[in-house]
This record gives sequence, C-alpha cells and structure tokens, in this order.
Amino acid sequence: PTSHAFANAPDTDFSIAAKRDRALAAIQTVRQQLGQTYLPLVNGQRVNTLEVIESVNPSNPSEVVGKVGLLSIEQAEGAIAAAKAAFPAWKNTPATERAAILRRAADLMEQRRAELCAWMVLETGKVLGQADPEVSEAIDFCRYYADEMERLDAGVNFDVVGETNRYHYQPRGISLIISPWNFPLAIPTGMTVASLVAGNCTLLKPAETSSVIAAKLAEILIEAGVPAGVFQYIPSKGSTVGAHLVKHPDVHMITFTGSQEVGCRIYAEAAILKPGQRHLKRVVAEMGGKNAIIVDESADLDQAVQGVVYSAFGYSGQKCSACSRVIVLEPIYDTFVNRLIEAAKSLHVGIAESPDTKVGPVIDAQAQNRIKAYIEKGKEEATLALEMPAPDNGYFVGPTIFTNVSPNAKIAQEEIFGPVLAVIKATTFDEAMDIANGTLYALTGGIYSRTPSHLDRAKAEFEVGNLYINRHITGAIVARQPFGGFKLSGVGSKAGGPDYLLQFLEPRHISENI
Ligand code: SER
Repeated sequence: PTSHAFANAPDTDFSIAAKRDRALAAIQTVRQQLGQTYLPLVNGQRVNTLEVIESVNPSNPSEVVGKVGLLSIEQAEGAIAAAKAAFPAWKNTPATERAAILRRAADLMEQRRAELCAWMVLETGKVLGQADPEVSEAIDFCRYYADEMERLDAGVNFDVVGETNRYHYQPRGISLIISPWNFPLAIPTGMTVASLVAGNCTLLKPAETSSVIAAKLAEILIEAGVPAGVFQYIPSKGSTVGAHLVKHPDVHMITFTGSQEVGCRIYAEAAILKPGQRHLKRVVAEMGGKNAIIVDESADLDQAVQGVVYSAFGYSGQKCSACSRVIVLEPIYDTFVNRLIEAAKSLHVGIAESPDTKVGPVIDAQAQNRIKAYIEKGKEEATLALEMPAPDNGYFVGPTIFTNVSPNAKIAQEEIFGPVLAVIKATTFDEAMDIANGTLYALTGGIYSRTPSHLDRAKAEFEVGNLYINRHITGAIVARQPFGGFKLSGVGSKAGGPDYLLQFLEPRHISENI
C-alpha cells in the first residue's frame, strides 16, 4: 500500500489548566449570545422567513440557544436559481483558488476553536472533551480536501505516440447537503467543503437541532471567501423543503448523513427522473450502524472494558460509530460483565458544560422517548444489568446495559442511537463472528483479542467499513481512518479518505490525434 502524510490539527490538551479555563470561559461568553436569530443565506443575502424555530440546550431545554428562520419552498426555488447562476464562474475558478478558500476556513475555525466548542456544548449537549476533537476534524476536512482537490486536478495522462489522452474531472453542478446534528460541525463541514472544493454550488440544509452551529459554519465559509450563490445556508423542514429539493430536476447530487430510513427514501426519490431533468443524480448516503465489539478469552480485559465503555457511552451513544453490542466469549463472560458494569457505574451523568460530566443529555425529547421505549422493550427481552439514574431536568438517559441478550432481540438488531448496550454471549469464536455480522449494517466493528488466528479472521470476515483492533471504535481521524460503511450503513464513500472527492466530480476523457 502507498502511505499518505497529512498533518492533522492537534486537539486541545485539557490537562493544562489554562486551556481548560479558556474553554470554560468561552462557554460563558457564548452564553451571553444565546437567543439570537439566524436567518437563511440565499444568494449572499439573509432572508426573512415566515417560520422560525427555537433551538434549545438539551441539558436545560428552557435555555434557547438560537432562533432559526426556516426557508419556504418558494425561497428554496430562489436558492436553486442563485446556485445555477453562480455555477459557471465557480466551475471555472481554478482548483487552487477553491482550495485556498478551504484552507482559510480551516484557519478561521482554529481561531474560533473555543467558541465553536462552546456552541456545540450548549446546542447539542456534547461535552468539551468530545467537542474539541470535532473542531480538529472539521479543520482536517478543510485542509485534506483542499490537498485532495489539487491532487485530482492534475488529472491523468495516458498519452501514446501520435495521440494525447487526458483524463480529468469536472464538478457535477448543484449539490444539496443534508447534515445530522450528532457531529454538528465536523460532518456538515466535511460534506460541504468537499462539494465546494470540487466546484459545485452547494446548499446546506442542517438538522434543525443543530442549525445554530451550522450558521457559525456558514459565517466562516463566507468570511473565508466562498462567493454568494456558491454556498447557501438553507435551514428548512426536511419533510417539505428537503423533500422538494431532493426531487428537484436542477439538483445534481445529494449528500446525506443520517438515519437508514431517510437515507433509503432519498436514494429512491433521487432515482426518479423528473420532467426537464437531463442527468442522473448521485446520492452519497451515510446511514446507521449496529456496531459490535467482540471480546474473546485472550483479550486484555482492562483495555476491553475501557474501550467498550467509551465506544458505547461517549456522547450518550449518539454516534453512528458507537458500540451498541458487545459479544463476549463464554469463558470470560461473567468476569467481563461484572467489570463492565462497575466501569459504567463510575460515569458521571450530567449537564454537558460541567467538566465532571462523561455522559451528557441526548439531543431532544423525541430521542429521549424513543430510547426509553427501547429500554422498556429490553426489559422484556433480556436482563437489565444497569440503568444509571440521570437528572430530570433536560433530555437525559442514564447509561443502560442489558445482559443475556439474544442476537435477534430488537435491542440487538435496531439502531437505538442512545446509551444502551446489549451484551451477547457466544460459545465459540465462529458464533461470535456470525452474531457480529448478523445485522443489516456494516459500519464500525471492534475486536479485543491477542489470538492471531482470531484477528486474521476478523480482518477477513468482519463486515464493517471500519474495523478497530484492541481499541475503541469511535473517533475516526481524517486521512488516517477514512470513515463509512457498506450494506445498509452507506454507499462506501469514505469521508476523510482518497475516494471521497470523486463522489462530487464527473470524470471526462479527451483523446486528440496529433
Ligand atoms: N466519524 C465519526 C466517528 O468515527 C462518526 O461519524 O466516530
């Protein structure tokens, strides 16, 4: 394999008191700015909207983080028209200029790191220790895709005697980004800047519950120099405006990260040719997971317990990469389970801004209710081994562990997207592999083992886009762990990897007889 050198942005070292204090002070500064109104940005203008929603702090829902204007279908048509008008000039802007804008955006994010973290803490209930690496990831996406575009822009030369043969890439056109709330900065940044640097005019429709952070990203992209009409921030309802744009004949591609249900619907809708449409739409869909970690009898249990707890309960289990099943070999099952429960009990559940908190809230009341319903279901299907108490005020769910879970139980098959872990016993390693692969998903997976034959089998047979050996299974790093899955987890586009920008480009070839 070829190797690739890329300098990732370093995370803040919060063991240094001054850095911790600075991050905590930024939360107080941002708190003074809560409740402001954020309007959509269409063709470089802020537009007034009929509908305005409130985005609240999930740790304390009476605190309104910001009010967000939602674009109407009519206004969305205006955005499409602006994107179409801006496309020819953006397409012809040299790739190095587009890349320079991304690098400026990365620098602005670095300057605003503490503030961006604070918005994530307050709007999405992410603890500082998880918000800060997310700023690094967003910066990395900008710098890596800038480099990648310059690499691809060189094209490929297939010349032979008497004939030049040049292979190159062009942008697709109008590109719609539909982003999730769970990585409210890194994921929309990655999807948006990849689309932009490839030369597409890009509309960003963020998840409602993280629209304020997306508005901060929009500010940064504008300040970095993305022209009006080339990037537009279009907070709007997914069920109306989002659906309208997915079906729109002038949209060339849709990049979505979110649930399997919505992803599959977008994939199907986008396939239908509309009157006047002269192209097939490209859909990049990154969806759910039901990620498993296998712990065998040769595993280092200290490592395994720590890695499973972090993977299952970090950001309250609301990462598509999170561990929701741990498959444990019989000889160590009891020992592992006891230690797992003890370790989970030590997690502090509380408001996201408190430095002691390890598990903050879930995103909103709907998520809280859905997760609680799964916990009730789990009590029917399996043995409740731990249900941690959680604060009443705010959308909290305490870390919950079920043992003796059947591989086919609902809680072992459906994506819960919360701090709920199913422990499944396997009698042989074969059985453990079968259970691990026995879902619709193939996103992340892990194995704790010191048995070479088991590791070889996991490398060859574990059906996941990202396999992690003897470490936690979340927190993929740009240009180190290109991220994304297959089966019903996604199309295999691999964010932060060498194939990602190709999704946003059309290849062309020119042969010339000379
Ligand atoms: N990239 C994230 C992770 O690896 C998930 O989106 O945790």
